[in-house]
Amino acid sequence: MVLINGKREHTLNVADRGFQYGDGLFETIAIDNGRLIFLDQHLQRLQHGCQCLLIPCPDLGLLAQEASRLAQQQAQAVLKIIVTRGIGGRGYRQPDSIVATRILSLHPYPNYPEHFKQKGIAARFCQTRLGLNPSLAGIKHLNRLEQVLARAEWCDPEIQEGLMLDGLDRVIEGTMSNLFFIKDHALITAPLNASGVAGIVRERIVQLARTHAFPVTEQYFTQDTLLAADELFVTNSIIGLWPIRQLQQKLFPVGKYTQKFMAWLARSL
Ligand SMILES: Cc1ncc(COP(=O)(O)O)c(C=O)c1O
Repeated sequence: MVLINGKREHTLNVADRGFQYGDGLFETIAIDNGRLIFLDQHLQRLQHGCQCLLIPCPDLGLLAQEASRLAQQQAQAVLKIIVTRGIGGRGYRQPDSIVATRILSLHPYPNYPEHFKQKGIAARFCQTRLGLNPSLAGIKHLNRLEQVLARAEWCDPEIQEGLMLDGLDRVIEGTMSNLFFIKDHALITAPLNASGVAGIVRERIVQLARTHAFPVTEQYFTQDTLLAADELFVTNSIIGLWPIRQLQQKLFPVGKYTQKFMAWLARSL
């Protein structure tokens, strides 16, 4: 089911700037037992993204209402919300009066095996680099060609995630997830002020670390540092937290700290 500006339909005006330029934002929200997980946080990030891109944000109450309407359709599902700068002319110049387009769509919940959570996943490094762009870093904007190219680098079904570096050889995140590692009893994740998406689950993991007085830092790191980590995991709104049990040829345990974060996250949903 798809709602475009509140109406059930499937077709978008070709002049929409979301289509023409990727001029917009999106959120991907898990629906579990009919409940929209982290809805408020997703709407806040959307609003923040709209402010950064100077798009008039649709009313958050209205978005929440439409989201609930879709969530009633299916107990387990994925809700995608897209907000674009709306219809415009051919050039980059934005129209004088902007009417944002909002698109909400319901998708099946991916059929991930339970052992990804318990035993971990295999990951690889990708060749495709993330561009450095402080004005877009952190925002979940619609321009995802880097992730599309990175994800096209492998088709081995044994590998569930690819890790991406920026142009300065720093490991930043996964193609669809944020990345954490544990080294010497501390949690580390990359800063996201030059590239990457400021994930909702990433933020929750950092909060949980602080709540439990678990040392956590944002710092850049290389592939070698990551390969020397004690434990690794990735997060996003649909998978929650997946431990990484293998990166390239190196094996990692699903260690006690990863298990702690998994349990804290599950309790905080
Ligand atoms: C590139 C990228 N980074 C990080 C994330 C994690 O974000 P969130 O925790 O908000 O789902 C996603 C989620 O889709 C993503 O596509």
